[in-house]
Order: sequence, then C-alpha cells, then structure tokens
Amino acid sequence: MLNIVLEQNRCVNMIAHLFNAPLGDDETAVGVGTVGSSEAIMLAGLAFKRKWQNKMKQLGKPHDKPNIVTGANVQVCWEKFARYFEVELKEVKLTEGYYVMDPDKAVEMVDENTICVAAILGSTLNGEFEDVKRLNNLLVEKNKQTGWDTPIHVDAASGGFIAPFLYPELEWDFRLPLVKSINVSGHKYGLVYAGIGWAIWRTKDDLPDELIFHINYLGSDQPTFTLNFSKGSSQIIAQYYQLIRLGYEGYRNIMENCQENAMVLKDGLEKTGLFTIVSKDHGVPLVAFSLKDSSRHNEFEISEMLRRYGWIVPAYTMPPDAQHITVLRVVIREDFSRTLAERLVLDIEKIMHELDTIPSRVTEKIATDEEHAVVVKKTALEVQREITDAWKKMVADHKKKTKGVC
Ligand SMILES: Cc1ncc(COP(=O)(O)O)c(C=O)c1O
Repeated sequence: MLNIVLEQNRCVNMIAHLFNAPLGDDETAVGVGTVGSSEAIMLAGLAFKRKWQNKMKQLGKPHDKPNIVTGANVQVCWEKFARYFEVELKEVKLTEGYYVMDPDKAVEMVDENTICVAAILGSTLNGEFEDVKRLNNLLVEKNKQTGWDTPIHVDAASGGFIAPFLYPELEWDFRLPLVKSINVSGHKYGLVYAGIGWAIWRTKDDLPDELIFHINYLGSDQPTFTLNFSKGSSQIIAQYYQLIRLGYEGYRNIMENCQENAMVLKDGLEKTGLFTIVSKDHGVPLVAFSLKDSSRHNEFEISEMLRRYGWIVPAYTMPPDAQHITVLRVVIREDFSRTLAERLVLDIEKIMHELDTIPSRVTEKIATDEEHAVVVKKTALEVQREITDAWKKMVADHKKKTKGVC
C-alpha cells in the first residue's frame, strides 16, 4: 500500500540532499510538498516573517513594518506574498542589459525590518541565475557590522532542478550559510505534470514550530504546514517515481540534452543576424531574444505569426526601468528535440522574410477617405500598455469605491 506522507518525506529528503542541506546521517530533512513554487514561497515567506517578528518582540522593538528585498524581476507570486501577508516589497531596479537583481544594491537596501533577501536561481524573464554567493558574502559582512541576522531565500523554481546537475560546483544553495530556505517547482524541470512544488528549510530551527499544526484524526500524528489541507496525491507519486526512476544520472542526461538543444536554437537565431540574445548560456535552458532592429516590425508580430506555424512563443516587455525592451522566450523542456529547435529557426526565418514583404505596423499611417485625417496605427506594444493602464485605472477606481479587498 502506498503511504503518501512517507513518499513526500522521501522526496523532501532527496531534494534537501540535492541542495546540500547540512543533515546528519540519521537526521531527516525539513520540507513540504506544495501546489507549485507559489505556495512554497508563501510558506517560506511566512516562516521568515514570524521569525523576524519573534526576534523584534524579544528585543522590545516595533514589529509591524516588515519588508523583503528582491529584484524587480521577481515572479508575480512574490508580489502576491507581499500583498496577502502585508510585507513591503523593496525591489532592486533593473537596467538595460542587466535583468537580474544586483546583489550590491540589494544589500544596500537591507534594513533592520528586512525579513529576508530573495534571490532567484533562474529568472522568469531570461533564465539567468542571480549571484547568490556574492549576495551571501555581502550580507554576512553587513550582518557583522550591524548585528542583524538577515537571511536569504532562494527562489529556485526553475534552477533548482538544473544547477545541481549542470553546474554542481556553483554555490547557490545550503552550502552558503545565510540560505535558510529554497523553493523549487516539481512541474518545471522536476519533470512532473502541473501542480507540484517543494519548500525546503535548512534546519528545523528555520521553520517556527508555531506554524506547524498537528492533527491526529487520520490515525497518526500528522504535522501539517500548508495553506490548504486536502489535495491530490498524484503529483507526489509522480515526483517520487521520477526521482527514483531517473536518479542523479538520469536527470543530468536530460538537463544536458535540454541545454544542448537550447544552444542549437541560440546559435541558429544568432546566425540570422537579426536578434540579440538576452538569455545566458549559464542558466535555465531557455532562449530569450529581441529584435536588433524593431523600427519596422516588433516581437509581438513575430509571436503572432509564429502561431500560424503551430508555435506559441510569448513576447513580453521587461519590468519597469527596462520596459522598453521586448523579448521573445522559448523554454526548452525534455520533449523539445534538436530537430524541433532547427525547425523553429527555419520557421522564424520564413516569418522574417514574410514580414519584410508586408507594410510596417509600427509606423503605418492610414489615411481615412472621409475626413482625409491621418490616423497613426498603434503598435501591439502600445495597445498592450493602453489595456494595462485601463485595467489599473479601473482597479484603482474600484478600490476607492469599496475601500477593501475584493
Ligand atoms: C522564478 C519563479 N518563481 C516562482 C514561480 C511560480 O512557480 P509556480 O508556477 O510553480 O507556482 C515561477 C513560475 O514561473 C518562477 O519562474
């Protein structure tokens, strides 16, 4: 008979070892299976908030204004955490050509109310790994000078199942003393279908006991630390199966293959001479790229036209301070073969030729017969921004009316 709690704990142990948790031979790891990285991040954030509050209470200091320092490239779940659990999000701005959190600037922003600094191993926008080691070293220094003990959380939603296999020497995990918790998505490079993530803590001391609930009505003492109670067990079984079936070697082979195919795609796109690559070779196997010249056509048109060939390649703008940069992103998973990578390059080339033969939408002017007026047709980017602005205004107006959370 399957015991899901046991299987979950085994997965937690395997992943904690993969992340170099400092565990003795007879010690079990501390962690939990979650509904994706988002829930894992909520739980890790709550643990940091509670630990910080307890410390401030003991010191007799105010504990009502916690903040968290991240890069402006964080995934939306961090914004959700901040808003739902009333923690100020202090974002390090991005700049053109540098699309991840600058550790020096992050540490400058840390103050006594900072519950943790969140670093990303595999930015959603371009797959780049942030420099967690430098962040750790700078923060160790700042903690020494100030007497604070600001910790680090690593959001390894994508990179957690990449770095241990492709870059085992890279120090980003529990080998760094200030890294107290890590999340990873099982449904990304953990190779499971949607709905599973993992939150892993360095030691038992890093997860305040008061956040753990104990129930016994299912026949034994079961500690629970999740936002909801019941959930499907199929993802845990699938994760356990993959870890056991593939093992370290199996995952490494798959990740190496993904990385090679990403390079085939990257080289093919570079050879066209039309694109700037904004992803890094050292990171999540994905290719993010921008048009070198977007004066006639833009990335949104390419994305739209690729759909006709059966490709869904999103185009998006970078966050504030780099929002004038638009990128297309292709994430390479295990089922994206070398042949598919080559075909995608050919299809993109075909589209670029087609675009050359049609009028530019970016600067197109349409004369209307009736009024002889000149109407400038909006770019897809301008349309998207207008829609976003209209939504923001509507939400703001609604908030003013209701003065509450809806
Ligand atoms: C860096 C990062 N963090 C968190 C998340 C949220 O992960 P999940 O979809 O597993 O909840 C994502 C998802 O894209 C991500 O890229």
